[in-house]
Amino acid sequence: MRRMAAQVLPLNIRKKRFGQPVTRLPFLYSRTRCDNPASSQYRPTPLKRTFDLNAKKSSAETSPSRLVIHDLAQRNGHAEFSQDVRAGLTSNPRHLFPKYLYDELGSRLFEAICEVDEYYPTRAEDEILKTHAEEIAGCLPTSDTLIELGSGSAEKTRRLIEAFTRQRQELLFIPVDISPTALATSAQALLGSYPNLRIEAYAADYYQALAALPDFGPHPVLVLFLGSNIGNFEPPEARRFLHAIRRVLRPHDVLLLGADLKKDRQTLEAAYNDALGVTRAFIVNELARINRELDANFDLWAFGLRSSYNEAMGRVEVSLESLRAQSVNIRALDLTIDLAAGEKIHVENAYKYDLDDLRTLGNETGFALERTWLDSAERFSSNLFRVTDL
Ligand code: TRP
Repeated sequence: MRRMAAQVLPLNIRKKRFGQPVTRLPFLYSRTRCDNPASSQYRPTPLKRTFDLNAKKSSAETSPSRLVIHDLAQRNGHAEFSQDVRAGLTSNPRHLFPKYLYDELGSRLFEAICEVDEYYPTRAEDEILKTHAEEIAGCLPTSDTLIELGSGSAEKTRRLIEAFTRQRQELLFIPVDISPTALATSAQALLGSYPNLRIEAYAADYYQALAALPDFGPHPVLVLFLGSNIGNFEPPEARRFLHAIRRVLRPHDVLLLGADLKKDRQTLEAAYNDALGVTRAFIVNELARINRELDANFDLWAFGLRSSYNEAMGRVEVSLESLRAQSVNIRALDLTIDLAAGEKIHVENAYKYDLDDLRTLGNETGFALERTWLDSAERFSSNLFRVTDL
């Protein structure tokens, strides 16, 4: 995919603070080609979707100005990764940083999670968007700009893009994602599908992207934060994040927030530990990434995935468990860690919401919850928030 993409993509990639646009795709992938010789073992096989890109290339090729990718994500990436891995693995209890789950392979594994039976949120949200896209677009009749934080493959977003482009001449889509690969792939696919779409993408973390967004035009913008990403923030962080979104919005702008709902333990625990083992692979890939990029020797078979619902806290706690006593050597950090049998490395919490929680979250951050849509099984919610005074 990498080679083909480099040939066909008419990219105009800007490194924001460093001036000149970089116009060749391979730059996007530089993070997976680090100096570590171990990284040469990492050769992802082409995505199936590649043939799609190829089939659709002509429409994207004819107007290169339809796509700009600002790459803000990789500055000091390696140093920060090293520091975070050291800090996380030497703290008590040990933890890993979830943002490093989403390298090129990790982003694909997450897509695969969305396909397994147990992980219902993606399908539930897609059902909501499919059923109510026109109504949602109707809440902002003059809007011509969609911003999506954490866009990933942007598959679900298609429902909204379709509803918006049906009602409008032109639509500007501003996807933000930490994975430049996911951005480049999804942007190409979208441009191929929708001739009146323009894309200005940001490979960045959310706060970087919010600080770098272009000036909005006179019409309202719709900010999307889909999936159950809000649940991966600790409650104070969720407030800080919504507040940061609120600060870039104007009185007539709108936020559509996805939130997974509180429910029975069995459903929740299965969603975060599917029987096929895709979620385990997704999490263990972070250890594999440490092996590749920091010359470590984690034995990937020696870790199990534990996902348990802490009802009092309203969250699923996801961690790795060391299946035996073991020593791990992280050569690039000159660090050895000794793990006891049964010792856990915490990876991520996934908070679950109810409608009161969501209303309160909005009230605390300058938003009023105007509408909530649920899927037919009432497992997931899409919430439309209007801006209020801060
Ligand atoms: N945002 C997703 C969620 O919380 C991410 C996710 C899905 C995830 N499965 C996971 C994160 C397993 C950690 C572990 O639903």
